[in-house]
Amino acid sequence: MEPQSVHEHFSDPRAVQHYAKAAASLGLWVSEERVFQSIFPKEATLLEVGCGAGRISIGLWELGYRHLLGIDFVREMVSEARRLNKKLEYGVSFRHGDATRLDLEDSLFDGAIFGFNGLMQIPGRENRRRAMSEIHRVLRPGGVFVFTTHDRANPRYREFWEAEKRRWENGTMNPGLCEFGDRFYEAPIGCTFMHIPSQAEITLDLEATGWTGIESVHRSEVANEPADVREFSDECRFWIARRPDQADTAG
Ligand SMILES: C[S@@+](CC[C@H](N)C(=O)[O-])C[C@H]1O[C@@H](n2cnc3c(N)ncnc32)[C@H](O)[C@@H]1O
Repeated sequence: MEPQSVHEHFSDPRAVQHYAKAAASLGLWVSEERVFQSIFPKEATLLEVGCGAGRISIGLWELGYRHLLGIDFVREMVSEARRLNKKLEYGVSFRHGDATRLDLEDSLFDGAIFGFNGLMQIPGRENRRRAMSEIHRVLRPGGVFVFTTHDRANPRYREFWEAEKRRWENGTMNPGLCEFGDRFYEAPIGCTFMHIPSQAEITLDLEATGWTGIESVHRSEVANEPADVREFSDECRFWIARRPDQADTAG
């Protein structure tokens, strides 16, 4: 599994239209609204990584956030996001960019978001760590990073993961996968790659890339999402991590 395959998957017109529809008509999940507003003051300068067609950034503008940059490595997604932003006469900036090598200066943002499990669609643990490091680099000290993942401990998938563990032990796993926890699944936009992490793994990766104050909460603990949101997206876990500020690192 190569990052290029994920890029091809999201460049497919079906994927672009799927996310454009969500940006135009679904908007923010109730849980997203609650989590983002509880963390970020309205004057915060925010980076949204993996913005797709702009669903989250456009929603943040509607909540009153005014300093927003969305980036995505699929140019067609960025074009859709810009188109919607222009149609609505909002002021969100969107640009092309790869999470694993951000073309942005150090310490620019108060916060960053990598929503709807996008970070877990980067194949390879080292590549996901690279994205965590890059996001850490572009946040100011004290800045907060919010992202979501699925959760391998979800009881609904226990049998699947037990069987998958046996397949990795006896070498009969799908050879297209990089690591235990990787999955392909059928989605409305076709066969989709996703890494499903354990909590311990994300905590380790965040710590290894310099984050502190790590917290997480299930989406269902934050809000009971309406049917259209549940049809668009499954249960997931919000992760919140902080770039240490000078007071944390002093002494
Ligand atoms: C699940 S979609 C979410 C889109 C949007 N945030 C939303 O919630 O509607 C994940 C997005 O992450 C983008 N993405 C995946 N890997 C990326 C990377 N390495 N750098 C930037 N964007 C990436 C994909 O192109 C896709 O638009």
